[in-house]
Amino acid sequence: MVIEKSTPLKGVVRISGAKNSALPILVASLLADGETVIEEVPILKDVSVICELIRHLGAEVILDGEREKAIIRTDGIKVFETPHHLVKQMRASILSMGVLLARCGKVRISMPGGCAIGIRPIDLHLKGFQKLGAEINLGCGFVEASCRKLRGNNIYLDFPSVGATENIMMAAVLADGETVIENAAEEPEIVDLANFLNEMGAKISGAGTKIIKIEGVKNLNPCNHIIIPDRIEAGTYMVASAITGGDVIIENVIPCHLRPITAKLLEAGMMVEEYENSIRVQGKKPINPVDIKTMPYPGFPTDMQPQMMSMLCIASGTSIVTETVFENRFMHVGELKRMGARIKIEGRSAVIDGIESLSGAPVKATDLRAGAALVLAGLIADGYTEVYDVHHIDRGYVKMVEKLKNLGAKIWREEA
Ligand code: EPU
Repeated sequence: MVIEKSTPLKGVVRISGAKNSALPILVASLLADGETVIEEVPILKDVSVICELIRHLGAEVILDGEREKAIIRTDGIKVFETPHHLVKQMRASILSMGVLLARCGKVRISMPGGCAIGIRPIDLHLKGFQKLGAEINLGCGFVEASCRKLRGNNIYLDFPSVGATENIMMAAVLADGETVIENAAEEPEIVDLANFLNEMGAKISGAGTKIIKIEGVKNLNPCNHIIIPDRIEAGTYMVASAITGGDVIIENVIPCHLRPITAKLLEAGMMVEEYENSIRVQGKKPINPVDIKTMPYPGFPTDMQPQMMSMLCIASGTSIVTETVFENRFMHVGELKRMGARIKIEGRSAVIDGIESLSGAPVKATDLRAGAALVLAGLIADGYTEVYDVHHIDRGYVKMVEKLKNLGAKIWREEA
């Protein structure tokens, strides 16, 4: 992607369905036989990979890009193995474990390796399955789990992992008896998955709090569901407006999901107005320096940390950004420095000395949100910024170039 220094962004942008809701919900559709219809499915690379996985496991999937809709037809699960080429492409493939255990009583999955933002183990997922009665075998590069029948139990998560909470919830819905997940993740995507499962006939209560209770049922039925809006895509456009001194209305959002981001933008001196399904962000100068610490929801989302850092590069003072969720999520720092940013990493914190302006440079997207941060930096950097490896951005942002162009940004794609 090539980005030329842009004038303040103005206009209206519509947010797509949440990637991190769509992925577990598409997998969870395998828990019932029949036809499930999911709307507001963001048409993204990661969604295509999860659809390929579902097809591999035996379902028929129609992904209607025009209507942003997925139709999944299931008639029993034919395969209980998730192959390496899918897990390698997308870590969220491990979300198939809970579903396969619940439906087939066994699963074999290639181990997800390290990734750009950290080691990301799956120990909490496995401990949860063990508590439900599964036997776990770790082989060379794969993990197997099997059980006669899953039995509900109390599971305490050492850390409120989003993926572990989702995987355990999907396994527990068909288990015998009650499962209680303590210290569960509280992210809106967990609530969306729980709502979907309840629409299928599951009995889940407490999603969105630290304690989730799941009363196992005998079987689930297919249903229709609408995915919630993507709070991270919304947050990215909020920062795009703020960083360029723009005035943008971001439509199709749930404003309360955006509060941690709104709070930091207000602290930075921006104007933010909340409406029922939209939010307006007006950028103001100077940008006040702000300290940020990423935390599980309702704390400040790690998935917005790189984008906020781009904005703080041109704040009128020193900001400190502390990353507590992932151990290696500062890959964008080196690239922002190539654009002239003054950032020092000290352990898990980055100290950012705000400067007048950034300069365009060739930079590399090392992961999805790092890529988004570089695009935002490119909007205010003098000259041209070339962002390479933008396939990472395509994993999580629907039509980013088109949406930014509609707001007046000077951005386009070039063949490498
Ligand atoms: N962790 C463990 N053991 C586990 C699971 C997680 O130690 O068994 C650690 C991880 O290594 C990490 C932390 O716990 O340091 C948080 O991981 P979590 O399991 O909560 O994250 P995830 O489920 O792998 C989801 C999102 C990520 C988002 C995180 C945190 C999806 C598909 N992915 O990942 O989204 O950053 O939650 O909110 O839902 C993105 O969209 O760019 C993205 C990376």
